[in-house]
Amino acid sequence: MSSIPDIIIAVDGFSSTGKSTFAKLIAKEFAFLYLDSGAMYRGVTLAGMEAGVIGDGKIDEEGLRKIIGPLQLHFRQEEGNTRLYLGERCIETEIRGWDVSQYVSPVSAIPWVRNWVDERLHAFSEGGRVIMDGRDIGTTVFPNAELKIFMTADPAVRAQRRYDELVAKGETTTLEEVLANLQDRDYRDSHRPTSPLRQADDAYVLDNTHMTLHEEVVWMLGLLQGKFDLLDSPGLSC
Ligand code: DC
Repeated sequence: MSSIPDIIIAVDGFSSTGKSTFAKLIAKEFAFLYLDSGAMYRGVTLAGMEAGVIGDGKIDEEGLRKIIGPLQLHFRQEEGNTRLYLGERCIETEIRGWDVSQYVSPVSAIPWVRNWVDERLHAFSEGGRVIMDGRDIGTTVFPNAELKIFMTADPAVRAQRRYDELVAKGETTTLEEVLANLQDRDYRDSHRPTSPLRQADDAYVLDNTHMTLHEEVVWMLGLLQGKFDLLDSPGLSC
């Protein structure tokens, strides 16, 4: 089989559709750099909470603007995984917590936060051969990405998957709360004025409501083979 060229793969879609699990696996399988754009918004949110400018149901935008400039948010590759760091501190676990999830959507709707994140995503992707997941990768961050995937799944199935993950991590919440948070984020992400979540016209839709991860990878392999002519033609025998 010939190899996949150095392309950018954009993976967008609704919350908790398994975008990052899928993108991470594809990255490992085909030697791509995996970048999680949502982690950057989560990192900004965590930093704001720690600085006391986000909390008690409020976001102090001016306060956030003051701290965002010097924030040292960056990814590091460790043991085959991409991890988000704030300065020298790995913040992968904290950014996935329930408190950050409650504020991240409104934080990501602030246009200057989006510009700040987009600039960094472009810089991190300079070497090419990147698979990045998020909400606006195929529409705004990399509108010319060679391959765009749009992931979706039934909200009840997504909520159950997310709830199971949170419980496994020891968080106390209910399925109803998780479903409400997910629907709220879907709505906010799709209706904000700046870079709303939407399917790019040239994206391939992956609805994984009834799919296993293995089936998703097989689906992707078929797509890559078809799109990049990866299967060598059989030699003609005379
Ligand atoms: O994928 P995630 O749940 O970790 O993303 C966290 C939040 O960040 C989510 O509410 C939407 C927002 N986000 C965004 O607006 N644009 C992106 N490219 C990625 C995430």
